Amino acid sequence: MTLATAPGKAILLGEHAVVYGRPAIAVPVREVCARAEVLALSDASAGTVTVEAPDVGLAGNLKELDPSHPIPRIILDTLHALGPGLFPAVHLRVTSSIPIASGMGSGAAVSVAIARALSEHLGLPLPPDEISALAFAVERIHHGTPSGIDNTVVAFGQPVYFRLGARPMPFDIAGRMHLVLGDTGVASPTATAVGMVRDRWRADQPVYERHFDSLGQCADQARGLLEAGRIAEIGPLMDASHQVLKEIGVSTPGLDALVQAAREAGAWGAKLSGAGRGGTMLALVSEEDIDRVRQALTVAGAVRTIYTQVGS
Ligand code: PMV
Repeated sequence: MTLATAPGKAILLGEHAVVYGRPAIAVPVREVCARAEVLALSDASAGTVTVEAPDVGLAGNLKELDPSHPIPRIILDTLHALGPGLFPAVHLRVTSSIPIASGMGSGAAVSVAIARALSEHLGLPLPPDEISALAFAVERIHHGTPSGIDNTVVAFGQPVYFRLGARPMPFDIAGRMHLVLGDTGVASPTATAVGMVRDRWRADQPVYERHFDSLGQCADQARGLLEAGRIAEIGPLMDASHQVLKEIGVSTPGLDALVQAAREAGAWGAKLSGAGRGGTMLALVSEEDIDRVRQALTVAGAVRTIYTQVGS
């Protein structure tokens, strides 16, 4: 049996602006993950792949599944990338604890876990950039015009400074960053939010370009601070970014309430994370305030809170 996992992710700074060429920073969230298990099937003919993904109600022989569904798609693309040849018969079981459509990269993580498990099982492990490229191809089918930040951070499994068209830069945080995520419980498909922002940008490009510049500058400043271990100073950049994301139109009263509650409970900074219009928010906290902020988020309506630690 070969098991591979891939973490969830949160966007620390730069969402939406990253689609327009500005930099963004994303971090892995290891407390939730996608898992792919590959088992050898001794009594089936070579090339047989059976699939079981109970979370999304998918089960059957790969040949009979809809090839445009993300799970069959990543399996087919991975087998194709591994080259010609008849593969030994396998059964693939896919599960995930990452909330779906909540800005935590669940789709990218499922793709990365599958590509990793299959390539490792077949003795041909692929490097993170190739795994990321395979997951990106699936993201493009299902999310319109993704920037590629989700598949990158999930495949590399470490903080990433990302800019469209440039080589993604995984980097190390000096020190330890404590993050609390609050889930509004409102599913928000990324493509819808990105499409809405695109319509608004088309209608008023100068204003939206300025918004994207501000968000990108926050991401740029944060990278230097993180590498220097000046963690608390990221807080004001998160607060400023949330304000801009509100002006862009992707926050909601539910997200604003969670952001406000986190700040009042002592967070150094808080903002929505990911596409917005629902999904998840993120608070940067000191170690002492982790529980207080989690409780405050629950009281303010979060259906789930997740604590994660990033850095050394
Ligand atoms: O998948 P989400 O909800 O974390 O959103 C990704 C971030 C966006 O910048 C809104 C879109 C993208 O492709 O970068």
